[in-house]
Amino acid sequence: MTTDQVTFTEAELLQDHPVAEPLIAGGLRCHGGFDEDGTYVSPRTLHRAPAIEAWQAQHAATFGRDTIHVPLDTWPEHFPNEAQARHLIRSGVPEPLIATLTRIGTVEGFGANIRFLEPGDLQRHFEEDIRGTAIDHLGRGLFEAHGRDEAGWEEEAGHKDMWFAARDLAFESPTAKVDIDAMLERMGFGQGPPGGAVVERLLPADIDPNLELIATLMIRVLLIEVQAFHTFAWADAWLSDPDLVAGEGRAADLVSYIRADETPHVGYLKTALTEMRDRTWLGEGGRRHEGAAMIGTLWDTSLEASLGAGRRQTRAAVLGEVEHWCSTHPRGADILAEFHHLASVDTAA
Ligand SMILES: [Fe+2]
Ligand SMILES: [Fe+2]
Repeated sequence: MTTDQVTFTEAELLQDHPVAEPLIAGGLRCHGGFDEDGTYVSPRTLHRAPAIEAWQAQHAATFGRDTIHVPLDTWPEHFPNEAQARHLIRSGVPEPLIATLTRIGTVEGFGANIRFLEPGDLQRHFEEDIRGTAIDHLGRGLFEAHGRDEAGWEEEAGHKDMWFAARDLAFESPTAKVDIDAMLERMGFGQGPPGGAVVERLLPADIDPNLELIATLMIRVLLIEVQAFHTFAWADAWLSDPDLVAGEGRAADLVSYIRADETPHVGYLKTALTEMRDRTWLGEGGRRHEGAAMIGTLWDTSLEASLGAGRRQTRAAVLGEVEHWCSTHPRGADILAEFHHLASVDTAA
């Protein structure tokens, strides 16, 4: 057992580091800030960041098992790729990039829905003690901190608006010229998240449906969070180029702050799912189920969707925007042909 603190109040898990200077982007007050040395500090990490490390260490000490690892190369690189993004902007068709940044911000905002999960007392679903685990803090600070990071809280903007601010810095307030609502509608965001909310039951009938819902959404969000690191690298590559976009690199700086904030999301989700994987689940009536089988079933289904239907849906939405905006340009056919020519091998398949 470690001697580190493993039990926290909700207020502690939501507590900020003191900052010397707040983060303001394009006039927008964002969460987080900068310390005395000018280093960016993520919001609500004063206790949350060391807590995640302590829970992981305690789990390894108690169960002798490592935390789940999800390699980034599980997924192919971002679509459109960097060369395609640069080509569109240089050819005078920046709108699909404006659409992509808008889509990313919108999806980030949906991530806040995780705070509406109601774990209640999760101990009754597990044979082993859950005191001092990430599982035990999901409904006592972790989901709430995550939701606030994504959608903002009180006067501080979160990731949703930070992506929109990056877009507006890079493309000099394009929302005055582009109908953003119509753009989102075309990409399938007319009525909330596309294909988002439905959770089909996969586990044995005696497993509590709410526990299955929570674990499923946690896995889905974790896969999105890890995959997003491709998006960060992609966005940084071209948003940081002052010859390509406006804002003198400030849009790329914002993306780097968002990326830093995602680390605790990946951390607590992996930790709690690992704790669930290595425990014995109790069905209604006391029937025992191996956690590895429960998490494994949900994991395989979510990963398949992420690599298959989910990717196809995003790709089709973005390609639709590329085709739409090329069709409004006098040289659109040539620009579109070159766009396809620049496709990465894996996404062209
Ligand atoms: Fe985020
Ligand atoms: Fe996140």
